[in-house]
Amino acid sequence: MASLPRSVLVVGSGGREHALVRALLRSPSRPRVIAAPGNAGIADDVPCFPIAADQIEGLVSLAQKEKVEFVVVGPEVPLSLGLVDRLSTLGIPAYGPKADGARLEASKIYTKEILQKYRIPTAAAAFFDSADAAIAYVRSRPAPIVIKADGLAAGKGVIVAQTHAEAEAGVRTLLALPGQGRPGKILVEDCLTGEETSLLVVVSGRDYIILPTSQDHKRIGDGDTGPNTGGMGTYSPAEVVTPALLEQIDREIVRPSVDGIAAEGIDFRGTLFIGIMLTPEGPSVLEYNTRFGDPETQVVLPRVSSDVLDLLWSAAIGKLSQHDLQVRPEHALCVVIAAKGYPEAYPKGDVIQLPAPLPPQITVFHAGTARNGAGQVVTAGGRVLGVTAIGSTLPAAAEAAYAICDQVVCSSKYFRRDIGAKQLKRQ
Ligand code: AMP
Ligand code: GLY
Repeated sequence: MASLPRSVLVVGSGGREHALVRALLRSPSRPRVIAAPGNAGIADDVPCFPIAADQIEGLVSLAQKEKVEFVVVGPEVPLSLGLVDRLSTLGIPAYGPKADGARLEASKIYTKEILQKYRIPTAAAAFFDSADAAIAYVRSRPAPIVIKADGLAAGKGVIVAQTHAEAEAGVRTLLALPGQGRPGKILVEDCLTGEETSLLVVVSGRDYIILPTSQDHKRIGDGDTGPNTGGMGTYSPAEVVTPALLEQIDREIVRPSVDGIAAEGIDFRGTLFIGIMLTPEGPSVLEYNTRFGDPETQVVLPRVSSDVLDLLWSAAIGKLSQHDLQVRPEHALCVVIAAKGYPEAYPKGDVIQLPAPLPPQITVFHAGTARNGAGQVVTAGGRVLGVTAIGSTLPAAAEAAYAICDQVVCSSKYFRRDIGAKQLKRQ
């Protein structure tokens, strides 16, 4: 085992970062952990500093001032703004790719080019920067058809159009999306069907470790209805990914992705999150993200029983092959509690009361929470809490998580009732 850093800064403020903080605090080496900016729950665990995740210079100064020996970056925005590049020039190791690697998430056209170049299974697609050409292409393909904005769009950049009319409207909407460069760029992509799975892969150059499988629930409503969100709940393992299927995914997708990224000259050290559609023709890549998933992390990390600090540190310093990943056999399930109205407008500042004490198999990860002037925990974002339960079976985990969700008191509380239902039905 490499000698471990004694102090770690976690960047971000979501449920994912709370799960990272908790996992790092479990390290037998007992590191000092701090966070920026954190949230109300993270601040109960570790010191938090009010520097937003996109304030690159502020974060760099904080890392120097606090003499942190390691930075773990949660969200995509600081990665694509080059936080890890800056830290690296100062000799501060970080977990997360530099801006060149983060482009794999920040540009869907770039990702598609990499997937095509290295013959990794993915939907056929074409790229456009004008509505006329895109619409002519849309009309030449069967509906449903998928329109995607090229750049980061906070979950609003993908339209799965059921009809040609919807697709044509989608082309115009996404070409006009702000922050996409001028003229805006879009992809028009064939629609895939099947179940989705999120594969989190810890990558360090050409070495990698596939973390336990999980499945997210992206739509706001029960039965996968309504608009897409950042993710409303997860469970792990995703048994739809059988050992044989995982081997196929490793051979056809993970290995060629990692090798392709390295062949492009990118020294990727961080999480490659591969969104995969399990189509009748085989697994196919929907997207890469270059960070841990949220809320995938809230079920994946609690199942890792080896030292997560050692895992991330080994990846950052190029010694990943020395980490021996250990996974608990139990099932984990996370239900996201959101503010009613999310992913559209929602209220903030509603007081949250959690049941206490929590049973030992429950962890409540905070996401959009803050403290008001009276010191009460209040809602401060769309996704508010992630209630994770560990159980010897998935039904046991689901029952335990939902029992807590029902006891959380908050006037704007909303959550899906069917997290894990697909797998439960299969059993
Ligand atoms: P992405 O941000 O690319 O993962 O897209 C967000 C969501 O849109 C995915 O999780 C899928 O549910 C859906 N999606 C993306 N691409 C496709 C596709 N080619 N076919 C069907 N659904 C898709
Ligand atoms: N839960 C999906 C994501 O983190 O992008």
